[in-house]
Amino acid sequence: MTKRRNDISRREFLEGTGAVIAVASAGPALKVNLPEVLRDHIGLTGTKIGCDRGECGACTVLMDGKPVYSCSNLAVWADGREIQTVEGLAHGEQLDPLQQAFVEHDGPQCGFCTSGQLMSAKGLLKRNPHPTHHEVQAAMTGNICRCSNYNHYVEAVLAASKNPTASKNSSGRSNGSSKSAATVAATKSKRSAAVSATEAGGAR
Ligand code: FES
Ligand code: FES
Repeated sequence: MTKRRNDISRREFLEGTGAVIAVASAGPALKVNLPEVLRDHIGLTGTKIGCDRGECGACTVLMDGKPVYSCSNLAVWADGREIQTVEGLAHGEQLDPLQQAFVEHDGPQCGFCTSGQLMSAKGLLKRNPHPTHHEVQAAMTGNICRCSNYNHYVEAVLAASKNPTASKNSSGRSNGSSKSAATVAATKSKRSAAVSATEAGGAR
């Protein structure tokens, strides 16, 4: 059976057989956005797609430690970048302090926006471990919650900011790669791509 050029399998990513580069060279019609690759090709379904046009924040991931709307990024733009998704926050059974605070402050209601809220908050605490109330509000303003649970999310982030490990990766490092992060790294010169994704999972 002939394989479509934009079929990117998890196995190909893991084996580094050049799937990302194949998409990059296949022309605009075959370019896919980052959440599509994360969700449909790697199985990291914790990243949600709400509006799919850069308005709601449900798809927020960290790119090189900074929050971005993944739906506004083509997968090929992640070439050589570290992408951390919500699956990379917990360390085994141990929740990230932010996740723990979200639970304790009843942040998630329907939960659809939660992974995006978490990643925006994580990005904030990485660059500003002790934000003010206003700074948390400002950092989360790009994440819409249709359940309108904004105040609970802000309180949760403020509570987590009092935990000295909240600004770090669950491995204890403040930046750089994390074993529990979903990391996309493509080496253009070798025309290879690799994704290591532990802690994969999350409901669709
Ligand atoms: S799905 Fe990306 S901003 Fe809404
Ligand atoms: S918890 Fe329902 S959209 Fe935010």
